Amino acid sequence: MFGKQEAFHVALTDYPIIGTNKKRLVVFFSRMGYVRKLAYEEANRSGAETYEVKSPERTEGTLGFWWCGRYGMHKWQMPIEPVSVSLADYEHVTICTPIWVFSVAAPMRSFCAQAAGKIKEADYILVHHQGSTYKSAADEMDALLGLERTGLRSVQCRKGQYKVV
Ligand SMILES: Cc1cc2nc3c(=O)[nH]c(=O)nc-3n(C[C@H](O)[C@H](O)[C@H](O)COP(=O)(O)O)c2cc1C
Repeated sequence: MFGKQEAFHVALTDYPIIGTNKKRLVVFFSRMGYVRKLAYEEANRSGAETYEVKSPERTEGTLGFWWCGRYGMHKWQMPIEPVSVSLADYEHVTICTPIWVFSVAAPMRSFCAQAAGKIKEADYILVHHQGSTYKSAADEMDALLGLERTGLRSVQCRKGQYKVV
């Protein structure tokens, strides 16, 4: 099961429209590529630039799964690499995150805390395994960012098949 999940691959070259609209940004965190694919699709639709939130913590592989679960269980923020994009320059930001333990993934929790007050307008794409909408995760992101989201898409992903909930 883990071997299959780790193998999911997305190529940026398949999305030529990305980066043509300098007023929009898509921010994402992705362990295995499932969120990355939806983030690239959204950026390719709107022309947005993309920014990947990365963590120096161990998030990869089976050990990484359990380590991430620990952060998720405690609702901790996970250390992330310094945010190297000027968030205030964008008119709209789409934040794409996996759900970890019924909540926003720990690295994106950190990003939202660090981005507080810097983002003008945002909507969210949540990706998860189960059929729930995880509205509470979106509410937490609103609270951390200090804004009210303009939209929410909740997407169930099973074996690479996406279904909007
Ligand atoms: C630590 C951890 C906890 C998770 N908890 C949930 C959960 O509570 N509900 C759910 O539907 N999916 C949960 N998932 C599944 C992920 O949300 C799902 O596999 C998502 O597609 C991962 O996206 P990514 O591959 O881009 O990181 C969890 C995944 C991890 C790693």
